[in-house]
Amino acid sequence: MSAPRLKLDQVGYSYGDLPVLENISMTVQPGEFVSILGPSGSGKSTLFRLLTGAITTDTGAIAFDGKPLSEAGRPFAFMPQRDALMPWRRILDNTTLGLEVQGIGRKQARERVSPLFAEFGLAGFEENYPAELSGGMRQRAALLRTVVQDKPMLLLDEPFGALDALTRAGMQRWLEAMWEKHRWTAMLVTHDVREAVHLSDRIYVLSPRPARVIREIEIDLPRPRGRDAATRALAAAIEADILETLLRPDPDHVDDAASHGSASS
Ligand SMILES: Nc1ncnc2c1ncn2[C@@H]1O[C@H](COP(=O)(O)OP(=O)(O)O)[C@@H](O)[C@H]1O
Ligand SMILES: [Mg+2]
Repeated sequence: MSAPRLKLDQVGYSYGDLPVLENISMTVQPGEFVSILGPSGSGKSTLFRLLTGAITTDTGAIAFDGKPLSEAGRPFAFMPQRDALMPWRRILDNTTLGLEVQGIGRKQARERVSPLFAEFGLAGFEENYPAELSGGMRQRAALLRTVVQDKPMLLLDEPFGALDALTRAGMQRWLEAMWEKHRWTAMLVTHDVREAVHLSDRIYVLSPRPARVIREIEIDLPRPRGRDAATRALAAAIEADILETLLRPDPDHVDDAASHGSASS
């Protein structure tokens, strides 16, 4: 196996005295699509906040390409949980935002994003405002803004969480096809078992908060997935098995909500 791009080694984090992440170890290989699957409130977004540098680890270490994260020069393009398109900016100007934040001029940024509009199913909508687009199109615009930053690794936080089931299934197929073409190194956070199985090379399953890795599963199904009946049946069996893991009462899990007087959201 090649050296991992991303490596988390026994990472722990608490908000004050609320433990959220406990002893998290994981790796992502170059070109690999890895999902973090866990219940709502388990600490998935917190994990991404550690990666993007919004917060820093209490314990353990994070390395990117073998360097401590603090010396790795912001290697992630991050798509946040809410689509975060600015309602007053046209779609074209929304998709250039990440580049503009990097200090690239608006004209040059537009030249970089424009050719991607067709591939993202957004051609002809450059001058529209976010409110004029469907939910799926808005998420594709947010993803376009993320990938065009050309960073070594993508972080996607529940990118389809707000979509209806049918749109969501369509977006998963579309993202899988895009990933097959571009082979981004990617980490996806989700609470949707089917989504994780459909998209991932590997899945880490998290316990409820404080999150620990309770399972690691290699998804060795041919792509594209979900098209032929045999692959669908295999995927469904894996899904059912993972769901059992997520629903199984965890004897080691200490429910500390009472002692902190706060319920997880
Ligand atoms: N800024 C914060 N301060 C205090 N607690 C927080 C903060 N952000 C999240 N939490 C708590 O940490 C836990 C994990 O949150 P989060 O990482 O957002 O979970 P997930 O993304 O898996 O739904 C939750 O119980 C949440 O209430
Ligand atoms: Mg979250």
